[in-house]
Amino acid sequence: MHIAVLPGDGIGPEVTAQAVKALRALAANGPQFEFTQALVGDAAYDAGGDPLPEETARLAERADAVLFGAAGTYDSDLRPAEARGGHALLRLRKRMDLFANYRPVFAFPELLGASTLKREALEGVDLVVLRELTGDIYFGQPRGISVVDGERVGINTMRYTESEVRRVAHAGFRAARLRRRKLCSVDKANVLETSQLWRAVVTEVAADYPDVELTHQYVDAAAMLLVRKPRDFDVIVTGNIFGDILSDAAAMLTGSIGMLPSASLNAEGRGLYEPVHGSAPDIAGKDIANPLASILSAAMMLRLSLGQGGMADRMETAVRHVLAEGLRTADIMEDGATLVGTEAMGDAVARELSRLATA
Ligand code: NAD
Ligand code: IPM
Ligand code: MN
Repeated sequence: MHIAVLPGDGIGPEVTAQAVKALRALAANGPQFEFTQALVGDAAYDAGGDPLPEETARLAERADAVLFGAAGTYDSDLRPAEARGGHALLRLRKRMDLFANYRPVFAFPELLGASTLKREALEGVDLVVLRELTGDIYFGQPRGISVVDGERVGINTMRYTESEVRRVAHAGFRAARLRRRKLCSVDKANVLETSQLWRAVVTEVAADYPDVELTHQYVDAAAMLLVRKPRDFDVIVTGNIFGDILSDAAAMLTGSIGMLPSASLNAEGRGLYEPVHGSAPDIAGKDIANPLASILSAAMMLRLSLGQGGMADRMETAVRHVLAEGLRTADIMEDGATLVGTEAMGDAVARELSRLATA
């Protein structure tokens, strides 16, 4: 199994190294992984003038799966796209047609006290944000900054075709079928025509899934309900920009953005796996970032792209055990727990995986 490893920028390399460590610990007693590492983001731009070198993109396309860290930093975010580390990720998503981005939000019972929200609201939270990833205002044309009537005007275009909506809607219904059979489609159909189309197409697709309960929410209300009654959600399907924002907010149901993994899949089931968080320049290089989002992304990769459901289960169990032992990085730290750094958390998960293999 060939895995392309693209660590990227900031804490990307720190957390990705822990996921690779966990995969190596698993492989000690099973199928072998071959890792090929490549540059992406600011790291690639600084080395060769392109945030997504052709070599990196080809490697990602050829591999059985891609393990991604984070791309971009505050220093590069305001540059033109060609020189912006974070833009590499958008190019790769588009190039590989990774339209379905699954962001599972699972409130580990061990971490209910680590959240800023009340424990009673979080108990039993288990939802998935399915974010459309290759359309919307991220890619619509026209876009840019130009001068109109003597002043600068910034333009972006929210755009969805019905086929783009249909395929992600199908993905949403299929995901709901494997869970509690509830799908909530989130849009802004009271204002936006793109959302009116979105809602119409999702409603049409629903006819193929009579066993799934479909509801609709406006994005502003959905943001409120996610913190008020998060247990009510099963699968949320939404567009690119709404999904970006809602999933960061939903991360806090788990205690930290450092706990949220993701899988981005195309129609052939090829996938890129990455934590939902970014490069966190404020904590980079300090060995304090939480690597569990990256490790849980590797578990999703095992399950969804590599056909290794058993290994994925063991990886998630190892994370549970380490949390139950009371090990915590700073972002999920609580009274009475043991504070550990990025490396030590990765070591603990790898150690637990070795123990589970021989138990
Ligand atoms: P961020 O997710 O990097 O950080 C937000 C906050 O969460 C910061 O305070 C950070 O310290 C904290 N945080 C994030 N991950 C953490 C972890 N694993 N453990 C502990 N704390 C963690 O978002 P941002 O600050 O808005 O963006 C930083 C840079 O990353 C920007 O350049 C942005 O464009 C880029 N970005 C990249 C990706 C990606 O590659 N997928 C995603 C989001 C942001
Ligand atoms: C994410 C990030 C990216 C996005 C950025 C880095 C382009 O925030 O993966 O959630 O907006 O999609
Ligand atoms: Mn985001």
